[in-house]
Amino acid sequence: MIIAIDGPAASGKGTLAKRLAEHLGFHCLDTGLLYRAVARDVARRGFRLDDLWAAVATARSLDPAELEDADLRGTAAGDAASIVARIAEVRAALLAYQRDFSRQEPGSVLDGRDIGTVVCPDADVKIFVTASPEVRAKRRFAEFEARGMGVAYETVLADIIARDARDAGRPNAPMAVAPDALLLDTTNLSIEAAFDAAVGLIKRKIGHPGR
Ligand code: CDP
Repeated sequence: MIIAIDGPAASGKGTLAKRLAEHLGFHCLDTGLLYRAVARDVARRGFRLDDLWAAVATARSLDPAELEDADLRGTAAGDAASIVARIAEVRAALLAYQRDFSRQEPGSVLDGRDIGTVVCPDADVKIFVTASPEVRAKRRFAEFEARGMGVAYETVLADIIARDARDAGRPNAPMAVAPDALLLDTTNLSIEAAFDAAVGLIKRKIGHPGR
């Protein structure tokens, strides 16, 4: 079984995906980390992020085992990710890994921007998670503060708005709500309430809430 979770920046889809995967005993992939890692490695090799050849070569040689890097979580990494994510060949290079991951037993939860539309169009359940930009910025700001990363709230909000526009406006696999996706607005929901709501959506869609 495949559960696809998409949504804009800092919508809480990663937290939700992890909670659902734990609950169901499924594998979980934060696909944003793949794009963040490609951008990190392009920069490490001394190339510009919009250098097509360098970005594609880096995506093709990406080692998905190297995603556990605290630096990948920051604002700059997210911003850089959305630049390499515009390149069609970069997306194509990451596609097979994501699809192979999704086919694991007993099931998988993948979160990103194009999971329900491009990576796993046949996913059993698709959830598009949203929240107002201000609420998303507040949550991400709190996350950064907890990690001791000093970033101003205004910077976080501006980054989220700019990244959403870039992700929704690109021609290749833009962030979009799949026609058969279930919408989950978490503006007024705690993590716990969002999790319960997602379990409810899954239950209604496939008839059981997992284990
Ligand atoms: O956690 P947050 O929502 O801030 O971002 P992320 O999911 O880690 O994604 C970082 C960036 O990677 C996004 O802004 C997108 O540009 C890109 N991305 C994508 O294009 N497709 C995906 N499936 C996942 C991420």
